[in-house]
Amino acid sequence: LDLEFDVAELRKVELHLHHEGAAPPEFIRRIAQEKRIDLGKVFDARGNYAYTDFVDFLRVYEAATEVLKTPEDYARLTTAVLEQSAENGVIYSETFLSPDFCGGSDVGAWKEYLHAIREAADAAERNMGIVLRGVITCIRHFGPDKARATAACAAETAGDWIVGFGIAGDEAKGKPKDFSYAFDMAREAGLHLTAHAGEWGGPQSVRDAINDLGVSRIGHGVRAIEDLALVDQLAESGVVLEVCPGSNVALRVYPDIARHPIQMLRERGVKVTVSTDDPPFFHTTMNREYEALRTTFSWDREVFAEIARNSLDAAFCDADTKAKLA
Ligand code: ADE
Ligand code: ZN
Repeated sequence: LDLEFDVAELRKVELHLHHEGAAPPEFIRRIAQEKRIDLGKVFDARGNYAYTDFVDFLRVYEAATEVLKTPEDYARLTTAVLEQSAENGVIYSETFLSPDFCGGSDVGAWKEYLHAIREAADAAERNMGIVLRGVITCIRHFGPDKARATAACAAETAGDWIVGFGIAGDEAKGKPKDFSYAFDMAREAGLHLTAHAGEWGGPQSVRDAINDLGVSRIGHGVRAIEDLALVDQLAESGVVLEVCPGSNVALRVYPDIARHPIQMLRERGVKVTVSTDDPPFFHTTMNREYEALRTTFSWDREVFAEIARNSLDAAFCDADTKAKLA
């Protein structure tokens, strides 16, 4: 077993990253200062994001996002996020973008934000070689009506850059079925589909996301491990899990990485991938995730090659883009 390698050197594909959730705290503070916005309770004494549990995390996330008010702010955010990712060896990244935060789901405003984000992403691709694509995401706790407006934004801008549609937010609120209409709109627009499930909800939440939303990927999905029949179904159907171990530990879904089910899921044949979710909130990076997996589960180069294959296969971009990255 060759474990003497530096995970920093591996080329990585990241499929689960929230755009605002990737904002470094310094970045949010700088913009707040420029705009003279009082952020309230967002940072601790050391300047890190401060939250007590998942619901409080969502509050802090949305409070920090309040400072991002213009397309220009999102262009700057995009550059900052892609610099971080490129430094971690990421060559392709899919980011969750929420029109709810970018123009309030107004299609005209959303297009201006998207234009600014794309220009920054194109510059990052030229300068750093990293490729970004967008997955439009509705927010579960904002409800089905907002999700329809979000799906309308997604349908209007679907194409070679906006490649997917998903749902994030509080898994305890509502049911996947409530969002079927939004997902049907997105599917008809040609978008690939993913849903956060099996992070706070158990196996039934994962089943519902697959059956009621028709997704080909699940954000997290790790609590499927509580039902081995479901695990086998995931393995057989090839549904891909966007696993974010550091996020799950930071938010206390699992007490530590050693007790995280990623290894059991992959040993039982589930296609797993590795992402950071909201890296500064969870004090993580892609290199840290890979290093933790290497040391905890003795993952060697071959396992990481399998992860890279799974990730590129499951990416929502077109075949030409994949071929260039392979
Ligand atoms: N939004 C940002 N991060 C999230 C997570 N881990 N789960 C659900 N919604 C989110
Ligand atoms: Zn997430």
